[in-house]
Amino acid sequence: QDAELHERIRSAKEALGERLVILGHFYQRDEVVQHADFVGDSFQLAQAALTKPEARSIVFCGVHFMAETADILSAEDQQVILPNRAAGCSMADMADEDSVEEAWEEIAEFYGFDPKNPQPDADGKLPVLPVTYMNSSAALKAFCGRLGGIVCTSSNAATVLEWAFERAHRVLFFPDQHLGRNTAKAMGIPLDHMPMWNPRLPRGGNAADDLERAEVLLWHGFCSVHKRFTVDQIDQARQQFPDCRVIVHPECPMPVVDAADASGSTDAIRRFVEASSPGDVIAVGTEINMVNRLAAEYPDRRIFCLDPVICPCSTMYRIHPGYLAWVLDSLVAGQVENRISVPQETAAEARIALDRMLAAKP
Ligand code: 13P
Ligand code: SF4
Repeated sequence: QDAELHERIRSAKEALGERLVILGHFYQRDEVVQHADFVGDSFQLAQAALTKPEARSIVFCGVHFMAETADILSAEDQQVILPNRAAGCSMADMADEDSVEEAWEEIAEFYGFDPKNPQPDADGKLPVLPVTYMNSSAALKAFCGRLGGIVCTSSNAATVLEWAFERAHRVLFFPDQHLGRNTAKAMGIPLDHMPMWNPRLPRGGNAADDLERAEVLLWHGFCSVHKRFTVDQIDQARQQFPDCRVIVHPECPMPVVDAADASGSTDAIRRFVEASSPGDVIAVGTEINMVNRLAAEYPDRRIFCLDPVICPCSTMYRIHPGYLAWVLDSLVAGQVENRISVPQETAAEARIALDRMLAAKP
């Protein structure tokens, strides 16, 4: 059955030739990754969407926000297809437009600016600038686009925060609290200058004091895969393999990132392993499909996942090769299934925030 599916995918790819490009995120299962023309982290995949203008169809083996981003960045005559529409991202779902708008209005009231049209003060800086992690809806990217804000990924969060602080006194960062906290902490921002901010959730402490001190206001989002990693797991790995080095994704909680030797995007993790030597032991804190693939690619080193319980990203996993075969067969038959199309006005505003990110890259 698997062989038949792979044959269907191969022959559809051959029939579509240059008119098709298949993009795959590192977390996709091997049976999907083997058919991708380009595999990368979310920043690289966003760039890849820009570099294949000859492809009429971009089939995105990843999750919904990535396909939306590809649609926003791709040319007008290109179509983006997500093989399974149910492949979302639970973290992206943790920030909805309404609650972010509500938080923004509350913040605007406190700092005394117009939430629809914030203006720089005498220092030439905005009171607050919104930064959204790539793992968010197109609507939130558009929110950032129209309010002077920007998008970041795990590979450029520090550059983007620096960009933001050149233009604003504070940042509202959503949805991932961990990426926001880890990045701001590495920039030297004290923890008590990064309060959590969501008006719909209960909060302790004194809100006015928090806002007075705040440099980064953090949303409550998190990744259910990366929040599983613990300092205990790192201690155990080091106990078992005293020479082992530990690298984790910055979506992991702060104590885990602090206890690791390094942290970085999925591509940074790949490069870390690539730069290692035969015999090295590397414990990795990220999604299992990627870790297993790295272990298979480098059989002369010991590469393993910090979490002993196998935990794939369940939504990335929803891209089964059967769905890929189905959308490709449909394209060969002249039908477009599961097109992801961001409404024009939203796309135009989101594009502003994405272009700022692409330009802010060092
Ligand atoms: P990267 O940008 O590092 O590929 O991360 C995407 C993601 O969803 C990690 O959970
Ligand atoms: Fe979303 Fe986490 Fe899956 Fe990444 S690993 S797509 S953040 S749920």
